[in-house]
Amino acid sequence: MISIIGAGKVGSASAFNVLRLGISDVVLLDIAEELARGEALDMMQAAPAIEFDGYVKGTSDFSEIGGSEVTVIVAGAGRKPGMTRLDLANVNSRIVKSVVKEVVKFAPESKIMVVTNPVDVMTYVAYKESGFERNRVFGIGNVLDTMRFRSYIAAELNASREDIRALVIGEHGDSMVPLVDYATVSGIPIKTLLRKDQIEKILSLTKTSGSEVIKLKRATTYGPAVVIAITVDAVLRGRNRVMGVSTVLQGEFGLSDISIGVPVILGKNGIERILELELNPQAKKQFGESASIIKDITYKCTRQAQDQTSTRTRSVRASSNFQHTG
Ligand code: LMR
Repeated sequence: MISIIGAGKVGSASAFNVLRLGISDVVLLDIAEELARGEALDMMQAAPAIEFDGYVKGTSDFSEIGGSEVTVIVAGAGRKPGMTRLDLANVNSRIVKSVVKEVVKFAPESKIMVVTNPVDVMTYVAYKESGFERNRVFGIGNVLDTMRFRSYIAAELNASREDIRALVIGEHGDSMVPLVDYATVSGIPIKTLLRKDQIEKILSLTKTSGSEVIKLKRATTYGPAVVIAITVDAVLRGRNRVMGVSTVLQGEFGLSDISIGVPVILGKNGIERILELELNPQAKKQFGESASIIKDITYKCTRQAQDQTSTRTRSVRASSNFQHTG
C-alpha cells in the first residue's frame, strides 16, 4: 500500500494512475477530507469499467497511512504564471515539514517520495526532518524533465518516443541540465543526427515546457501524475530502474549536504545506488551552477525556519518571564 498526501489535481491523478496500472492500493490524504473522500469515491466507480482490483481510500486522518511502503508528498502550493519553482520554497517547506512529522509518526518504515516544489530543496527538508536514511528520501522532478526531453527529441527526429533514451540532471527548475552527450535514439547519439540549432531548440523546450503549461492552464497534471506512478512502480516492484532522481549527496559528484537530481538505481530500498558519471566541461559547469542555486535556497529556507523557531522560543521565554515576574 502507498499513501499520497495531497488530493489536488496531481495527487488525485497519480492515485488513479497507480490504481489503473495495478501498482498498489492507495490512501489518498488531504486536510480537505471531503475532497479526498470524493476523489476516492469517484475513482472506485470507474473500477468495473477498466477492471482494476485495487482500492483507494480518501481520508484526512494520518493514522490511515500506517504500513505505507511509499509516502508520496504532493501537498503544497503550486507556482503561478511568472513564478519559478524556487519562489515556493518558504511556504512549502512549512507544509512539507508538517507532513513529514506525521509520516515519521505513522509510517516510520516508509520511503518518502517528494513531489512538492522546489523538489530538490523540499527533498532535503524532508530528509532532515524525518531523520530517515538517505536512500529512503528522494524527490522526483528530473524524471519528468527527462520525459519532456525525450518527447522533444522524438518530435525533432520524427522517431518513436519509445526509442529515445536520455537523462536530465541538476535542479528540477530553470537550471536543469539535460545531458546531450548521453541522449540516444536506439543507441545512436542524437548529436550525430541533429544539427546544433535543433538541439538548442530541444533544450530550450525541455526547460520551459512546465512554465508553458502553467501559463496555458495554470498547472501541470498528467505529466507529474504518470511520473509518480512509474516511480512508485520502480520501488514497489523492485524494478531497479535507472532514473534521474533528487537525492542527498554525501561526496558523490563532489557535493555534500544537498539534494539534487542525479542518476540512481531505484528499487525496493529506494535509492539502491547513485551512478556517478563523466560530464563534459560545459555540463559540469552547468551542474555546479545548478547545485549552487539549490544550496543557496536550501540554506536560506532552513535558516529562516531556524530563525523563526528561535524567535518563537525567545518570545515564549519573554512572555513566561513577564508572567513570572508579574
Ligand atoms: C512540473 O514540472 O510540471 C512541475 O514541477 C510543476 C511546475 O511548477 O512546473
